[in-house]
Amino acid sequence: MISFRGRSIVSIRDMSQDDLTKVVETADLVKRGELSGFLNGKTVATLFFEPSTRTRLSFESAVFKSGGSVFGIANPKASSQSKGESFADSIRTVSGYCDVMVIRHPVEGAARMASELSGTPVVNAGDGANQHPTQTFLDLFTIKESLGRLDNLKIGMMGDLKYGRTVHSLTDALAMFNNELIFISPPSLKMPEHILKELDDANIRYRTISDLEEAGKCDLDILYVTRIQKERFGDPQEYEKVAGVYRITQDTINMLGKDIRVMHPLPRVDEIAEEVDSMPNAIYFTQAHNGIPTRQALLGLVTGGLN
Ligand code: CP
Repeated sequence: MISFRGRSIVSIRDMSQDDLTKVVETADLVKRGELSGFLNGKTVATLFFEPSTRTRLSFESAVFKSGGSVFGIANPKASSQSKGESFADSIRTVSGYCDVMVIRHPVEGAARMASELSGTPVVNAGDGANQHPTQTFLDLFTIKESLGRLDNLKIGMMGDLKYGRTVHSLTDALAMFNNELIFISPPSLKMPEHILKELDDANIRYRTISDLEEAGKCDLDILYVTRIQKERFGDPQEYEKVAGVYRITQDTINMLGKDIRVMHPLPRVDEIAEEVDSMPNAIYFTQAHNGIPTRQALLGLVTGGLN
């Protein structure tokens, strides 16, 4: 039997297909109202060293809705980091204050390091351009809810595939379920070579293209749009070269196919026109709201309140 109790959740690469299925199925029970009160007496710390709206607030809402207590750092300038305290000492200290720690940090590997220092489980809420596993859980949940399955789908991922941690985690997950992946990006923002090599080694079907018109011939089930990650560009001129390169409008949806689902981890800047929001294809706000039952499920499993 799969057990999450006491486990840190750092990367999708640490997980199996059965693990992912377990989180999605548990989130479904939570969303249906069949599980409640499973964080009674549990305390969760949210340590955000990078900005967030959805991830931090949905984790906090998830704790309240499940009967637990939550506290944390939303602004690192208001923590003792601004007095020179090391990240390691902050983690060692806070691990004694909570049952599970949720961490977002701009440095790749920070969550892994925290999990090695902490006496309590650590959940990675995004580490640099590396991984965002809990976003992937809610993405998988949303795909299953919308299309009824997680396998044998054609999924396009578009935008900043180089720096976008959501698409890195999601690729790792979808590769476990026999899907075909179409990566749509400017050449300078391609999916990292090490991820493509792993797909090659595992015989996962994928294509890399830069022309959105080309995606119209791919019969996609899902288009997963991402923001160009301005904050991760060392050179602002490089950002300006690719900013606004793709924009999804109602016409684009009609070109891609009337049944296509459009997802986005959000926040968006201008890559999806607001006119798309009212189309039945747009499921990105449902996706964001699914962060609540998914994170409730995960916290319940990690703390042992759920099995
Ligand atoms: N999707 C996501 O991680 O959003 P936030 O940056 O607002 O948390």
